[in-house]
Amino acid sequence: MKQQTLSIIKPDAVERNLTDNIKEILIKNNLKILKEKKIQITKEEAAEFYKVHQTKPFYDRLCEYLSSGIIVVMILEGENSIKVYRETMGSTDPKSAQKGTIREKYGISIDKNSVHGSDSPENATKEINFFF
Ligand code: CMP
Repeated sequence: MKQQTLSIIKPDAVERNLTDNIKEILIKNNLKILKEKKIQITKEEAAEFYKVHQTKPFYDRLCEYLSSGIIVVMILEGENSIKVYRETMGSTDPKSAQKGTIREKYGISIDKNSVHGSDSPENATKEINFFF
């Protein structure tokens, strides 16, 4: 089933010029980049985007971080793209991410884990509408 999902290349990866390397990995995994933009968001916008995490102890730090620099947001399309992209990213914490995944290759820490991806069809729709 063809699906769309939202991808964010986070400030740590944009800053280290990893955008093209990450896009290459996406394309190799049959994830087509339908739309893309390079932006910086405010802390308030990050708080709205990550609202599902508002009760978590790391929420404030997460919003501070996502708004701290330039990010690249993309709509990805492909067969089962939500699952495929999550596998391509690897585990949230780069320390436990599988070999060859984006987070294993480029992630610095659980906070600076280089990329974000939607975790369900409902959230993919919400997240795509948030940015596009
Ligand atoms: P992301 O996929 O963008 O979704 C929420 C983010 O919160 C996650 O990646 C991590 O970067 C960050 N985060 C920080 N601490 C934790 C934690 N303990 N568990 C899950 N996510 C965390």
